[in-house]
Amino acid sequence: MLKDKSVLLIIGGGIAAYKSLELIRRLRDLGAEVRCILTAGGSEFITALSVASLSGHPVYADLFSLKDETEMGHIRLSREADLLVVAPATANLMAKMVAGAAEDLATTTLLAADKPVLLCPSMNVEMWKKPSTRRNVLQLLEDGVLLVGPEAGDLACGEVGMGRMAEVDEIVDAVVDQLTPRARILEGHRALVTAGPTHEPIDPVRYLANRSSGKQGYAMAAALSELGAETVLVSGPTMLPPPAGVQRQSVETAQEMLEACLEALPVDVAVCVAAVGDWRVSLDAPQKLKKRGKRPPTLKLVENPDILSRLSEPSNRRPELVVGFAAETENVVPFAAEKRKRKGCDWIVANDVSTAGGAMGGNTNEVHLITETGTESWPRAGKAAIARELAQRIAHYLNHEAV
Ligand code: C5P
Repeated sequence: MLKDKSVLLIIGGGIAAYKSLELIRRLRDLGAEVRCILTAGGSEFITALSVASLSGHPVYADLFSLKDETEMGHIRLSREADLLVVAPATANLMAKMVAGAAEDLATTTLLAADKPVLLCPSMNVEMWKKPSTRRNVLQLLEDGVLLVGPEAGDLACGEVGMGRMAEVDEIVDAVVDQLTPRARILEGHRALVTAGPTHEPIDPVRYLANRSSGKQGYAMAAALSELGAETVLVSGPTMLPPPAGVQRQSVETAQEMLEACLEALPVDVAVCVAAVGDWRVSLDAPQKLKKRGKRPPTLKLVENPDILSRLSEPSNRRPELVVGFAAETENVVPFAAEKRKRKGCDWIVANDVSTAGGAMGGNTNEVHLITETGTESWPRAGKAAIARELAQRIAHYLNHEAV
């Protein structure tokens, strides 16, 4: 499964380092080439000799070793890998990554890396719960790193709680998931995604808008297309480039977004991620409104069409599956569940936009998937990871498999 793939494993200083020896063996069994960096802390727990014997390569440990740097310098180490895995990722290593530190071979290689990084945190429960660690993990997710674990359970220190490094099986699954091209299980299906904000003009130079960046919707379109769906992305104004293989229709207003969506039908699935303006200005002034000598104008607002509701209406063009997103600031799940019924869509993905790690504009999200059969809460993750998981669920649904 991992033939021709190369993994750079960075082993930090934690008791879970012993599991990394098994990880090396398992990755090699799947055909991957594994090179290892052992930090000074890591070498207190396992020996360079074990790591070298299992990986079949010298162990890299010293940034200033003439021998290491001439054989395989820190830049080449990161460039020749398809994925960097940090296991165990200690609280200290993560704090250094957040700060952009480059003080030993591990941190310098991570800073120089141009490939995805998968962290497997491992630490005492109180260290994991500390506000500083919470902030660091959130920042790393924002920066695009992938995370597997930690898990709750007995810790080496005798305490019980969150902090155990993920089991080797789970880490191997995450590596395989990252390094294998996705099966095109949505081939032959058509998908429609709305994304971004809308701009509702006041006059030729002013408009009403919102803070949506479009990132979650673009990630959704990319994930559906990656699974082989012919994907139309109807996007409000954003700074984002269109994802590869996706057909993007750029619009400005809610009205234009609705028209572009109706034109994209028929589709098998519609995912409405856009933060559509609820209202537009009733009189879009043909000339710029003037300030001089006049009182501030009163803007009269009229309601915009609800695209999600329109697409959900029973008709022979209704997509087999209609998914909405719901940004809430309180009572997230009950409000979103009510919204699912009111709008007539099949699934709602709800998120809390009031939290510090607020989803709007950021790279991470913490969502609940609400379907007819119940609610599932997912852990905080990058928007791309959430989109991929949702795309898999959509594919199972459309292929009539268990979701
Ligand atoms: O009612 P609310 O704006 O919270 O609903 C959010 C969901 O409805 C999102 O899926 C959004 O894309 C969709 N929506 C829409 N058209 C509107 C308003 C919201 O498609 N005019």
